[in-house]
Amino acid sequence: MSKIVSGFSKLTKQEKINWLADNYFNNQPEIINTIQQYWNVDDKLQQLHDDFIENTISNFYMPYGVAPNFIINGKEYVIPMVVEESSVVAAASMIAKFWSFRGGFKAEVISTTKIGQVHFMYAGDKSALVDYFERSKERLRIATASITKNMEKRGGGILDIQLIDKTKKLENYYQLHVTFETVDSMGANFINSCLEEIAKEFRNDKIEIVMSILSNYVPDCLVKAEVNCRVEDLAGENPQKFAEKFCQAVQIAEVEPYRAVTHNKGIMNGIDAVVLATGNDFRAVEAGVHAYASRSGQYKSLTHCEIKNGVFRFWIEIPLALGTVGGLTSLHPMAKLSLDMMQKPSARELMMIMATAGLAQNFAALRALTTKGIQHGHMKMHLMNILNQLGASETEKKEVADYFEGKTVTHSAVVEKYKELKGV
Ligand code: MEV
Repeated sequence: MSKIVSGFSKLTKQEKINWLADNYFNNQPEIINTIQQYWNVDDKLQQLHDDFIENTISNFYMPYGVAPNFIINGKEYVIPMVVEESSVVAAASMIAKFWSFRGGFKAEVISTTKIGQVHFMYAGDKSALVDYFERSKERLRIATASITKNMEKRGGGILDIQLIDKTKKLENYYQLHVTFETVDSMGANFINSCLEEIAKEFRNDKIEIVMSILSNYVPDCLVKAEVNCRVEDLAGENPQKFAEKFCQAVQIAEVEPYRAVTHNKGIMNGIDAVVLATGNDFRAVEAGVHAYASRSGQYKSLTHCEIKNGVFRFWIEIPLALGTVGGLTSLHPMAKLSLDMMQKPSARELMMIMATAGLAQNFAALRALTTKGIQHGHMKMHLMNILNQLGASETEKKEVADYFEGKTVTHSAVVEKYKELKGV
C-alpha cells in the first residue's frame, strides 16, 4: 500500500510520530521512545528547535567539544567544535598546544566580498542592452535602498553591479553580477532580497529573468592562516627529515586529486566542526571551499608548505563566508555560547579562527600520516565507540582501555579482548 501522505505538515508532532511508527516501524513502541527521549525537557527550548525547520519530531545530538590553547595573532582562544569523529577535537587541542610553544598561528583576512547574480535571457541587440543597463544602474540601487539602508550603516551594501555577456556559453544568456559586502552577517537573505528587487526593476518585455540568487562560490572572501618556525624547533628525532616528508605530503596533495580530496576532507574536519558550533551554514562553506580548491581546473590542496633558509612554513588559504550575527548565530543558544566563548568575534575574526582550526587539523593528520600512520591515534580514540557498540559497562571499558595502553587497537582485537573478559 502506498505511503504517500498529504497534509503531513499540518499534523501535530505526536500524530507525525504515530504516522511514522505506523507506516515505517510496524508500530514498535521503542521507536517512539527513541524519538521522544531526545526531546528537550524544557518545552520552550524544544519549541525553539521545532520551529527551525518543518516536521521536527526530535533532535539529533552531536558531541560539542572544546579545543583549548589556540593562539591566533597573539590572542588566546578556546575553540568550540561540534563533530562526531573521535579524533578531531583531540588532534586540534594537541596541535594548538604544539604551536602555542612556537609563536602560535598567524592569520589575516585577504578579502570579504560576496557575489550574487540575476540570470536572464535576452535575444535582442547587445548594444541596446548595454545602453539600457547603464541607464538603469542608478534605479537598481534605488530599488534596493530600503534593504541596504541598515547594512550600509554597518559598513556594507552593494559594491558593484556589472552586466556580463554569457552568450558564448549559452544562447541569449546574460547576468547582472553583483558584488556585496555583508560585514558580520553571512548575508544570504540580504543578498537574495537585493537581487530579487534588482531583477524586478531590471526586467522588461525583452528581458526574461530566469532566477536571482547569491553564489556560494566566494573566492574573494578569503582568509589565510599560517604557522612557521625554525626547522630545528619542530619536535622529533630528525626535524629536518620530518619537515621534508611533511612538505612532500602537501606537494602530493597539490598534484594528485585523489589525495587532495582526502587531504582537504581532513582540513574540513576542523572547519566544519566550528561552522556547526557557531550555527553557520556548513553546506555553503563546503560548496565554496571545494569549488575554490578546483579553481585551476584541477582539484588541489588548500594548504601549502615550504622550507626556506631553515624555516618551516605551513599555511592555508581558504574562502569562508561566515556570519556572527543573524541566522542561527543568535537564535541557537549553543551557537550563541560558542561565539561568546570566542569573545564575540567579528565575521573577519571568525574566518581567521576557522582557517586556523582547519590548518591545525591538517597539520595533525599530516604529522600522523608521515610518521606513525593515522590508525594509531584514530583507533585509540575509536576504542570507546567499539566498546559502546559491544555494550560494555564502565568497568569493562576501563579494563579494556588499560589493556590497550601502548598496544595497537584494531576492531577485531577489541572484540576478542572483550569476549575474553566476558568469558564467552
Ligand atoms: C580523516 O577524517 C581525515 C584524514 O583522512 C585526513 C588526511 O588523510 O589528511 C586523516
